[in-house]
Amino acid sequence: MLDRRAVLRLAGGAAAAVGLAACGPFSRTSGSTSTKAVGGSPGEAFAGPRELSSRDGLLEVTLVAAATLVPWGTGSRYALTYNGTTPGPTLRARPGDLIRLTLRNQLDRPTNLHTHGLHVSPSGTSDNVFVMVEPGSEVVYEYHLPTDHPSGTFWYHPHHHGEVATQVAGGMAGAIVIEDEIDHGAEMAATTERVLVLADPRIGTGPSVLTASPAERQQGREGDAVLVNGTLRPRLAGAAGTVERWRIVNASASRYYRLTLPGLSMHLIASDHGRLERPLAVKEVLLTPGQRAEVLVPLDHVGSFTLSTAAVNRGSMGMGGGMGGGGGSGSSSGAAELLSLEVGAAGTDTNAPALPAALRPLDDLSTAPVDRSRTLTLGAMGMGGGTFVIDGRSFEPTRIDTTCRLGTTEEWTLRNNSMMDHPFHLHVWPFQVVARSDGAPRDPGWRDTVNVPAGRSVKVRVRFTDYAGKAVYHCHILDHEDLGMMGIIDVQ
Ligand code: C2O
Ligand code: CU
Ligand code: CU
Repeated sequence: MLDRRAVLRLAGGAAAAVGLAACGPFSRTSGSTSTKAVGGSPGEAFAGPRELSSRDGLLEVTLVAAATLVPWGTGSRYALTYNGTTPGPTLRARPGDLIRLTLRNQLDRPTNLHTHGLHVSPSGTSDNVFVMVEPGSEVVYEYHLPTDHPSGTFWYHPHHHGEVATQVAGGMAGAIVIEDEIDHGAEMAATTERVLVLADPRIGTGPSVLTASPAERQQGREGDAVLVNGTLRPRLAGAAGTVERWRIVNASASRYYRLTLPGLSMHLIASDHGRLERPLAVKEVLLTPGQRAEVLVPLDHVGSFTLSTAAVNRGSMGMGGGMGGGGGSGSSSGAAELLSLEVGAAGTDTNAPALPAALRPLDDLSTAPVDRSRTLTLGAMGMGGGTFVIDGRSFEPTRIDTTCRLGTTEEWTLRNNSMMDHPFHLHVWPFQVVARSDGAPRDPGWRDTVNVPAGRSVKVRVRFTDYAGKAVYHCHILDHEDLGMMGIIDVQ
């Protein structure tokens, strides 16, 4: 059980030492070596993405994909947008709802839409990544959420193989929030809920921001600025005595985040696929591309705080550079400040309301009978490691790589034979992490994306209870996916 008082005492001790860290007008770029001017204006007020909510069981929405100039400081920058913004609107629905979504493609390249993390059918015009939307055309998707769909934070983004990294890094992503009764109950309703979509676009005024060199693609492209809801280091005002509830989405194409908030405590309440069993006090939250986290932050102290991401070494492709050397071929996601939080204005600290003690009961798949075990090996091949493979094979749209039986539980050993980390993602069917070869703790709750560190393996268990059909699994460093690190699963 969470000992909230102990946690708050700890946080209180640290609070005194923390002020607002120096805020230059620049944000750190990818890699550990360079700092580059990006010309945004940090310190704009925090704003959530626009929200579109279901009514009477239906959410009817049109998303227009187009290249647009979006505001940037006193000027503008080139981005790929949904309905003119990046991130796109947040879609809010409830279990049992129908989301009818028209995707209109005004780009000059094909695109499509994937609802990352939703447990819905992968067939027909549901979450079917084999659907393609040509430039100038539109497709109507229909997502029927099952009545027992977990509440949680999910997201949407394009999934047209070969274009995914470019389109997501260009700005095409938005949050999906599924809310249930608990979200509307007294404890959660007392929190201040916000959506934080993290992205790191390249900054520029023309389409050259969409290009990446072969070397950048091998490492996974990272951008010039780390943004929260499209804004550089927004300023969020909170009131002492309240609890913030943040739904955080890593919508970056490749960048890993290690979130810290010195001086305040963070309590993880949900990961990729809904709530944990109980809040978990955490000092940092690792988010690989694709992953989500929901945290509660009790504002027990008046002051200035900074949500930051610490550097993450995600290995290297080699090419003579070796690991962790800080040389040209390393793939560290650099440190950056994400958001400044100003709490209160009055002089005294106030006790925030108590956090919920329990969230939801979870089946533990680590003790469930396993019908079948298999191993998937993630690696790189070819000259300079330019081809990314799973089980030695590059993605082939007409080949079924893995066939599973509906109603069974499987254990997958995800083995990483390469020198860089790969965040493995499976569509439609969430899983639990049951073991890590490095002895690191199992991720709590249900996930749909898991980091498989360089040279390590991770065991996950998947329950194929429902939804027959064809879907994909892949590395969520989206350049790796586009370079072939994806396979097709058929559940029958
Ligand atoms: Cu968010 Cu197939 O991915
Ligand atoms: Cu997905
Ligand atoms: Cu990868």
